[in-house]
Formats: sequence, C-alpha cells, structure tokens
Amino acid sequence: MQAQGGLVLFLDNLHARYGSIARFWGGLGDLSVSINDPKLLERVDANKLEKRLDGLNFLKGLLGARGIGYTSGAQAKVRRQLWHSVLSGQPFQQSMLPAFNSEVKSSLDGWTGMRNAEEKEALIEFNLAARMLWLRLNQVNAFGCQAGEGATDLFRAFGEAVQLLQRLRYSAFPTLPWSPAWREKRRLLSFIHMEVDRLIQATVSREPQGKESHTEWGSGDLLSLLIAAKKQDGTPAFSPAEVHDEVLTLLFGVYDNSKILSHTLHQLACHPGAQQAARDEVDTAWGGQPPRTLQALISLKYLHACLQESLRISAGRGVIWRVLEKDVRLGNYVLPKGATLVAPTAAIHSNPNYWPEPSKFRPERFLDAEPSASGTDNLHPIRHPGGHALAFIPFGFGLRNCLGQKYALNTATLVLGHILQGFTVELPSEADRQLHFKEENLSLESTDGIHLRMIPRKKQMQL
Ligand code: HEM
Repeated sequence: MQAQGGLVLFLDNLHARYGSIARFWGGLGDLSVSINDPKLLERVDANKLEKRLDGLNFLKGLLGARGIGYTSGAQAKVRRQLWHSVLSGQPFQQSMLPAFNSEVKSSLDGWTGMRNAEEKEALIEFNLAARMLWLRLNQVNAFGCQAGEGATDLFRAFGEAVQLLQRLRYSAFPTLPWSPAWREKRRLLSFIHMEVDRLIQATVSREPQGKESHTEWGSGDLLSLLIAAKKQDGTPAFSPAEVHDEVLTLLFGVYDNSKILSHTLHQLACHPGAQQAARDEVDTAWGGQPPRTLQALISLKYLHACLQESLRISAGRGVIWRVLEKDVRLGNYVLPKGATLVAPTAAIHSNPNYWPEPSKFRPERFLDAEPSASGTDNLHPIRHPGGHALAFIPFGFGLRNCLGQKYALNTATLVLGHILQGFTVELPSEADRQLHFKEENLSLESTDGIHLRMIPRKKQMQL
C-alpha cells in the first residue's frame, strides 16, 4: 500500500485489477471489502450501516472514545441531532459571518501586499495560502477569536498525529512501543490532550455557564456551544470528558480539507468562462459588499456547483468506512459480518458509467440535481448528480454522513466569493494547468503546489 502511494491509490489499483468488489487485509489481518459501484453499495444497504468503529479504531487514542465518531444507535442519533442543529443552524453560521469576513479580508490584503510594487498582479502558491486561511477560519469557528489565536500548534500537532497513526496502522511490519515512531506518538497525543483541556478551561473561565449573554447556542464558537448545550431536562448535554472528545472529533472533521478552496480556485483559473459566470453571480448577489446574511451565500448556486464539481474531481476525501452488520450475499460473493466495508470515493467519482467524461470540469452537472434527497417519488423523480444517490459522496452517506457539510460549503463559498469579487484569477503558465497528485491523509494533494496569478479587478479596469 505504501509502495503504491497510500490507501486511495492502492484502492484505485485494486479495483482496476479485480473489478468492482475487492478484498484486502489492513494491518494485522482485518478483512476489508472495497466496493466502487454505487449500485452495489446500495445492495449492501450502505446507507443503513452506521458502525465505523473498527475502521477508525487506530485513531481512538487521538480522538478519544466518547466523541460522536465512536457512538452508535440511539446515543449517536441524539448526538447527531445536537451537532446538526448547531452546525447547520442559522444562528451559528450567521453569527460567524462578521468574523469570517474580516479574516478573509485581512488574508486577501496580505496576499495583495505580497505583490512586488512594479508588478500588476500577485503570484500566489494557493495550496499553502488556502491552508493557512482555512486553518484560521476553523480556529475562530472552533475556539472563538481570542482562544483561536493560541490553537495553531494544536491544529499542527493534530495533523501530524493523524498521519503518524495512519502510517503505523498500515505499516507492513509491527512497530514496537519503544520505537521512535511510538515515542513520537506518545509525545503528540499527550500535547494534544493537554492543549484541548487548556482551551476548554479557558472557555469555561471566559464564559461561565448560565451567563446572561449566552444565546440559545452559547456565545458563538463551537466549543462554547458544546459546553452550553443542554438536554431537554436542562442538564448539560455533554459531560466534560465528552466535550473533550467532541472537540477532537471536530478537529478531525475540519482538518486538512482546505483543498475545497485551492482545487476549486485552480479549476476556475483553468476555466475562465466558469470563473466569469461565478463572478457575475457574486456581483449580482453581493453588490460589491461582503455578505451579511447566510442567504447571500446560499443564493450562489453556480459557485456552489463549481465547489461540488471540484469535490467530485479531486478535492473530496478518499475513503469511507462501515462495519458490515450481517453476512451479505452479492452474486457469487459472501461479504462476512464484521468485515469493514470500504467505499473509495475517488474511484466512485471518476466512474464513467455515472460521470460521462469524468476528468472534465463541468459544474453544470450539479445545477439541476437534487443531491440531498434520497429515493424517488413517481410524480417528480429525484435527479441525483451522477444519476445515483451514492455516486456523489464527498461527505459520506447515510446514517453517518458529514455533519459539517453545509458549514464547509458555506465557508468555502464565502472565501471564493470574496476572491472573485476582488480578483481575476489566471494560471501563471500553461505548465500550471496540470496538477500532479500525491496522496496525503486519505486525500489527493498537489505535489508541486497550486500556482495562481491574482489580478486585482480595480487594477485590471485601469489598464
Ligand atoms: C470539504 C470539507 C469536508 C469534507 C470533504 C468532509 C468529509 C467528511 C466525510 C467523508 C465524513 C465521513 C462520512 C461517513 O462516514 O459517511 C465526515 C464526517 C464528519 N464530518 Fe466532515 N467533511 C468536511 C468538513 C467538515 C467540517 C467543516 C466539520 C465540522 C465543522 C465536519 C464534521 C464532521 C463530523 C462531526 C463527522 C462525523 C459524523 C458522525 O460520526 O456521525 N466536517 N466528513
């Protein structure tokens, strides 16, 4: 697996060699069955499977066992409802808009400031720029403006720990507990757990519970919201230990998905027609101002379609896991109870049976689709992107799909809307059109960065 560049690329090769259903053994003999055809995933009732535990066991030391990722059944249902109402809720996202607008503006000013005075445009390595901005926005979102400042090392250590744990899990040889890798693992985990405790303490002492300024959802950032959340009987929804593990789950949710920004902007630089269409839409909806309401983001349908198309092609994560809860027969095969079901999203998103000319960037594919609905009704057949509910799964599927998808898409819309309002984006040279990918953290990362030329629109008009 390592020789092939990682799990995502390994799965691509596995399916190319063995067809739509293929099995492999990860680590010390856990059986996994990978299925890259949406119709077959439907036949194993993938939407109804909820247990991810075994597939993600290797992250338990990092994420803790009490976060939503490791709950199931009725407990998971209650937790997901709580998370869902916070993350996709109007009060939370709307309350974040002023802070996000000013973070994005100060990043854009920084990028323009990087410009050489003689030049008329800024040349930017946007992979890194997007990563820094996404990190900053997520720090503010998770911990609030002040505490967010101090969380950079935590976010960095978290990323390193995920990579290390993944390396250890898929290592061809068992690593011994006194090896350098294990010592590094212990160091990172102890730092991360202490930092999370420190941030929780800082939030509790900053905003004691019951303080009058609390809105229904606390005072804005997600950590305050988790601490302030109440059950129906008025008691805290999360114990302190659960808050700790939910924060880590949140870090796992947001970490390393800035590709939604960098890959989409690269596609828009490669496709000036799509870029202009997205810009026209932003100009009409925002009228030259920063967005002040959630509706101003949601109304950008074309930009939204560009984000989805980019998630399909390259910006999404690579692998979804579920545990099979009973034996399932598929044709000549029996998939045994307890095995891990793997859905390789990259392979599914490039399956030409569902996506004609899969490597082409065509946002229009998403414009008249209705991705959130499932099933059909006879009067109005549901139009799924790719023609099948499981053909587009960058945010997973069924009972355990991503809770942050609306938040992620709205945040990305906000950032790209600001960029399109202020800049025209071009490729510095033809050589920058083709990205070369390597696998990093279960998703595809461009090996040479993403180089873009950003021309301020005001400057352009003066020329
Ligand atoms: C482009 C950005 C993102 C992508 C591509 C993404 C993708 C995913 C995927 C593939 C899963 C697993 C779904 C499954 O097993 O079916 C997941 C789960 C999850 N995501 Fe996201 N995610 C993104 C952003 C976020 C953000 C911003 C948050 C939080 C603010 C978040 C919170 C979560 C949580 C809490 C889960 C676990 C849900 C559960 O266990 O029930 N995600 N995400």
